[in-house]
Amino acid sequence: MERDMLYDSGWNREELDYKALENQWHVVARSEDVSAERPTAVRLLGEDLVLWRDGSGRIHAWKDYCGHRGARLSLGCVKKGEIECPYHGWRYDGQGDCTLVPAHPDRHAPASDRLIFKHYAEERYGYVWASLVRPERPLPELPQWDDDSFRKVYAGPYHYQANALRALENFIDASHFPFVHAHLNGLPDAPEPLKKYTVSQDERGLHSSEISVFQPFGDHRGIPVTARYTYSVFNPTTAYFKKKTGEVERFCTFFNATPVDEKACIIWLIVAINFGPELTLEQILARQNTVFEQDRHIVESQRPARLPLDPKAEMHVTSDRLGFEYRRWLRELGEARRAPGQLEQTIRAVSL
Ligand code: FES
Ligand SMILES: [Fe+2]
Repeated sequence: MERDMLYDSGWNREELDYKALENQWHVVARSEDVSAERPTAVRLLGEDLVLWRDGSGRIHAWKDYCGHRGARLSLGCVKKGEIECPYHGWRYDGQGDCTLVPAHPDRHAPASDRLIFKHYAEERYGYVWASLVRPERPLPELPQWDDDSFRKVYAGPYHYQANALRALENFIDASHFPFVHAHLNGLPDAPEPLKKYTVSQDERGLHSSEISVFQPFGDHRGIPVTARYTYSVFNPTTAYFKKKTGEVERFCTFFNATPVDEKACIIWLIVAINFGPELTLEQILARQNTVFEQDRHIVESQRPARLPLDPKAEMHVTSDRLGFEYRRWLRELGEARRAPGQLEQTIRAVSL
């Protein structure tokens, strides 16, 4: 079957982590980067995809493949709202139907069921989202998106030679601040103990209770703050924090890690803040870029590359509660897509 023939990431598609991701929404591009005239090539979970817009502007995510002779559709163009293959000019409309074979314009165009392969695509928050198979969960919510009292800034994309789930777990990990973000988000010579916090789960994902930390350079203003974080994980590759840096100030981050393949991801951020109207875009981005470069350095060093879902594979302490629950949730999502009998027998309960 062509889908298998074209797949070359090396990520075993029967593994639990892959299973937990293939039916979920992932950010694959900024909407403004997919024009009406030119298709865009992206990669998701080891699959090469082409993004393009039909005549109504609707976005499509298809396999980057034309079944006539296997050329990449992303090298073609969009004409009259249809995508044209670069090799022999065959055209496909937004339904996925072949509408023209230029060498035989009078001939009835061939059925397209073996010519193109459609995935799922939507747009929200200025992003294009794609799912390889029918998505199980809705598009995640960015709570401040429609609140004009929050200024929104896009940061990234940051390219990590690291697994997306490792990157997401890093984003929801508060105990690394004093070391990875020394003198910004914590003090390496006086790291604070983390107080016990709780994690709950509902239909929107996982949510932590408040986690309080002192930060010498706690936000884009460069001032010391006692920051109170609450985290959520809305989808396997989408997380969010709301950080209170005073009674009314809020610094929120909407984080997406695109799993390009098992050892590469792209981080996309939307930062929402309700303070510092005098801050320039450069000041905001400078801090974000510094922090995510510091994280990149560490996350790329982690081994094994893939996030271990077996709780016995790495050590856990109380402050790892959110990451621990994240791994458990991924395991559940992956197992739910496996046939009975394929369940991971080696996974046993571990308590913190
Ligand atoms: S390979 Fe696409 S038209 Fe021939
Ligand atoms: Fe970090």
